[in-house]
Amino acid sequence: MGKVKLEIDGKEVVAEEGMTVLEAARLVGAEIPTLCHDERLEPYGACRVCTVEIERGGKTRMVAACGFPVENGLKVRTRSPRLDRMRKTLIELAAVSAGEWEEGSKFWTLVREYGADPSRFASRVQIKPTKCIVCGLCVRTCSDVTGDGVIGFVGRGINRRVVIFPEKAQNCWTCRYCQEVCPTGKISPAGPLHSFPSIDDVLAGRV
Ligand code: FES
Repeated sequence: MGKVKLEIDGKEVVAEEGMTVLEAARLVGAEIPTLCHDERLEPYGACRVCTVEIERGGKTRMVAACGFPVENGLKVRTRSPRLDRMRKTLIELAAVSAGEWEEGSKFWTLVREYGADPSRFASRVQIKPTKCIVCGLCVRTCSDVTGDGVIGFVGRGINRRVVIFPEKAQNCWTCRYCQEVCPTGKISPAGPLHSFPSIDDVLAGRV
């Protein structure tokens, strides 16, 4: 693997070819927030809170750090008033769809750090609190890391929900992986079967 030289927040970084900007930033201690990323999984690009500014060839643009590969000569900014405003809005929108979250959770920490105020949007949308920001981490961990496939998605857009597939429920051996990766604390210690509705109940409109 070759080496790639880039600049992150004014610091020179020598990264491995194929690394993402998020991974390279961690080499120099630059903290980029994430909500849908986990090192064990392929980048997903759902939450966009990892957005950073990159500059190359004199042009600047915003990219999701968790999926953007390092390049020679790239200049990256991980924090700026513009990025902070954007992250704050993304966190507020996620907060509105979740409705609530556990104190001390990763999401709770980000809400506080960015001064997010979900009430800006809450009055415009009527969503039942689910404690879920639909980041997909539990779904992808259950299918790609453990191979159990107990948890999945149903619906699209703002109707997208996380559900349990009853025919796979016996695969759940309460490994706790989904609980560990959940940024809002939605998944109780009793496991996902006690935290999400079954797809049958959702499709039948019972929940
Ligand atoms: S962490 Fe990069 S898009 Fe969610």
